[in-house]
Parts: sequence; C-alpha cells; structure tokens
Amino acid sequence: MKNPVICTNSEVCERLLPRPPSASPQARDDDRGWGSSLKTCALCVSVLFNLAFWYSSAPQQVALAPPAPAAAESSWLSAAVQAAETAAMRSCSGHGDVFIDTVLVGSDGAQICECHECFTGPDCAVPIPDCAADADSGDPQLFEDYWRRHPEMGTVVTPGWYRMGYQIRDGQSMNFLNNALEAAIQELHALTGNAVTEGRYIVLGTGSMQLINAAVHSLALQQPNVSNVVALAPYYGAYELQTKIFSTANYRWAGEPERSSSTSLNGGPVIELIASPNNPTATIQEVPSNTSGVVVYDHAYYWPHLTAITKAVDNDIMLFTLSKITGHAGTRIGWAIVKDLDLSVKMMNYVFLNTLGVSHDSQLRATQLLHSVVKSYTRPTMSPEKGIFHYGHEVLLARWARLEAIFSKSSRFSVQHIETQHCSFFGKKSAPSPGYAWVYCERDEDVDCSEVMLRANITGRAGMFFGSSNRYVRLTLLRRQTNFENLAAHLSVLVSQG
Ligand SMILES: Cc1ncc(COP(=O)(O)O)c(C=O)c1O
Repeated sequence: MKNPVICTNSEVCERLLPRPPSASPQARDDDRGWGSSLKTCALCVSVLFNLAFWYSSAPQQVALAPPAPAAAESSWLSAAVQAAETAAMRSCSGHGDVFIDTVLVGSDGAQICECHECFTGPDCAVPIPDCAADADSGDPQLFEDYWRRHPEMGTVVTPGWYRMGYQIRDGQSMNFLNNALEAAIQELHALTGNAVTEGRYIVLGTGSMQLINAAVHSLALQQPNVSNVVALAPYYGAYELQTKIFSTANYRWAGEPERSSSTSLNGGPVIELIASPNNPTATIQEVPSNTSGVVVYDHAYYWPHLTAITKAVDNDIMLFTLSKITGHAGTRIGWAIVKDLDLSVKMMNYVFLNTLGVSHDSQLRATQLLHSVVKSYTRPTMSPEKGIFHYGHEVLLARWARLEAIFSKSSRFSVQHIETQHCSFFGKKSAPSPGYAWVYCERDEDVDCSEVMLRANITGRAGMFFGSSNRYVRLTLLRRQTNFENLAAHLSVLVSQG
C-alpha cells in the first residue's frame, strides 16, 4: 500500500486533529489546548500507545517520591548568570567569542577566544595575512552584531528540568510545536505582512531543510503514481541533493520542469520546488498558474531586510526559516505553512519519524528571539532604536551598493540586476538588499567562474550546485562585516586587473 497513513476514520480524525487557527482569539485558545499546529496522527498515537505500554508493563514505583526541595534562593541562577556574563564580557578584539562552553584554555586557566576566520592570537587581535575571503556558505553571521548590541533581547535561561520529555507537555500527545512559538510565528508574519497564517496549519521542522523533504515525501504519498520532483535552474542546491538521496519508490528527481509541455513529465505527477526570493538570484518567482503539479514555495528570504514585501503570500505549501530572519541558523528551526490538513499530518508524521519532534530548547530560544523582534516594533518605547529588519536591510543595502560599484568597473564580470520595489513593511521604495551575488564570467576562457575567484583568493559556490553553468558563481553577502570587507578588497583587486 502506498499510503501508510494515518487518519482513515474521519470521526477519529475529527477528535485527534484540531482545526487550523482561526481569527477568533477564543477559538485560537481552544485550538492551542490541543496544540493547533501539530495535527496528531494515528501512527504517532500508536507509537505513544506502545511507549505507554512499555512504561505500564515496567515495574512501577508505588509511592511517589516527595517533591524536591525548592532550590536555594536563586543561587543556581546567579551562578549561571555569572558564567554567562563572564564569558560575554571577555574581550576578543571584536574578532572572536568566548561562550560558556568554550573549551580552549590558556596557561592561566582562563578561556581563550574562539577566533573568527582570518584572525588569530589569544584575543583574536592578530589578522592572518593574505587570508582568503570565504564567500561560500550562506551562514547569516551578519546578525551577530545586532544581538551582541541587544543582549537583553535574545537571552533565555533554561533550567535543567525544562521540558525534558519527548512530549512538549503531559497529555499533548505528538504536538511538537510549542504554543508560544506558534503564536510568535503568527505575530511575526502579521507584523511584516509577508504571509497569510490564518486558517493554516503550521508544521515545525528541524530547520526548513528538514521540511523540504518532509513536503516532497508527503506530497508523493498523496499521489497514486511516482512523482517527479523538479526545480527551475538556478535553484537552491539542496532540492536536488535531498531528493536524490532520500528518494523512495514514490518520487524521484526529474531535473527542470517542462513548462512548454501540456502533459506532466512522463505522465507522472509533478512536485515543483521553488524559492522566492530565489537562492541564488534573489528574484521573486512564481510558477505559472497553468502549470500542472503541486508547488512547494520556499520563502526563506521573503523578509523585509532581504527583499521588498509586496504582498502577503498565500500559497498552498510555504516554507520559512528562523535562520534568515534572526540569523540563528544553528538553532535549526523552520516551519511550513500548509493549507491542506492531510498534508500537514503527513509532514508532521515525517518529522516525528525522522527526528521525533523538534528540540524544545531550540523552540524556547526561537520564541524569545521572535517575540523580541515583534516587541521591538510594537513597543518602540521599550525597544532598541532600530529593529532587526531595519538593521539587516541597511547592512545589506550598503553591501550590495559596494558590490555593484566594484562590478560596474568590470567588463569581465557581471552581476544580477534586481528591481527596486515598494515595500509595504517599510512603507517606501526598497532598493535591493539581497543575500547573495550571482556573478557571471563574461570572457570565453573563464568557463569556471569559481576557479577564477579561487585564483583571486575568494571561495564562492559554483553554478553547478544550483543546476546552472559553472560560468556562474554565488558569493554570499550574509556573513560578518570583516568577511565582507575582505571579499570586497579581493574583488576590487581582481577587477582592477582588467
Ligand atoms: C532557499 C533556502 N531554503 C532553505 C534553506 C535551509 O534553511 P534552514 O537553515 O532552515 O535549514 C536555505 C539555507 O540556506 C535556503 O537558502
């Protein structure tokens, strides 16, 4: 049987699967009682029953142990705060960090800084000569500076007993999405006006990376025949890599979509993956409405600091990630906004079987971060002078302008053109502030543009990783300012060579 899932008895489903969040706060509260976004599934429930069975058949402690005495007056907390503050106060010349879990220790027993790339020494004060500019990964480290300036916004305290279990709280079955995080996600979308969440299901993932395949796998389960997974080049490389490595009997990677064909690829159903704005080009893209097949819209970059917000997107399946909003890529939080209940259940089922939910600690941190972002705009008197969208936008605007100026002097390289558009969030025209430069090598002999960059001491990501020609190379603009300065310096030298 192709479809192993799940809620086949509609009466059972009615009870197990809460309605999507509605406009009414009362209804929303009711939903949250059940965990409005994680639509429990029979498979999950049966696993829980199994767990319950194992537990009930194990020898039980007859009398409950008395509760632990209350912790001595906040000494545990002050020790934790002191450790965090000591680490945070350590000076690393602005080019490194000491965290509470930094393990490097000097001869005096004190922690030694973890240096950023291109810096060394116990305090990271020494620049490494001729250091290569690493412009490969999309690690959004540019936001570190923002959070360092506003430590009160991003800090959370997690006691040792914080949500230790698999379940988010007793009786919550397989609802992996903390209600507080769900509310913060909805508030953030409402604040920016970038997506419709009302009446939609939210599926949480360990990064949107997990949700890409969760969506593909689940959509394929809904189809009677083998699905063809496609993406129009240049596309985010993980679409192809994931589909090829995780493909099952139900779906396979099929390359680029055949837009001109009136029938679907090989007669099979089509699942199209599309990033809008695109990674690497930053273009807003849409699949033509007459195209057959289902579409997964990856809106990782549809936030005001990275692109103009022109409407609240309302696609059937939309992916978002904390990584490109606040920069906390390592926290691994992503979410899907899904219209179809059955699909949302299948995706939750996938997350359940794949990682048994999503880290509660990460959810707590994400909640704090998103709440603080929302608060910084809704309660400006209590907030920093600049919200993170304004901060990120200014930084990326300046970087893009610098890059355009450098390439404008070159006939050897060209870079993508991005339109200035009116942004409803900023309430004005918003000049381009993309996360990446998509650079083209114009000369006949420069068939491998990333090789050309490498010779100039710049590491970029070759076009082939985006299903494209190696005449293209992607350079990231999302890293720290020192990284960008190094990139700009190396590019200027390269361009000046003619
Ligand atoms: C278009 C796109 N989608 C998804 C992801 C993955 O994001 P996450 O950090 O949530 O896994 C990225 C990361 O760079 C991306 O560029």
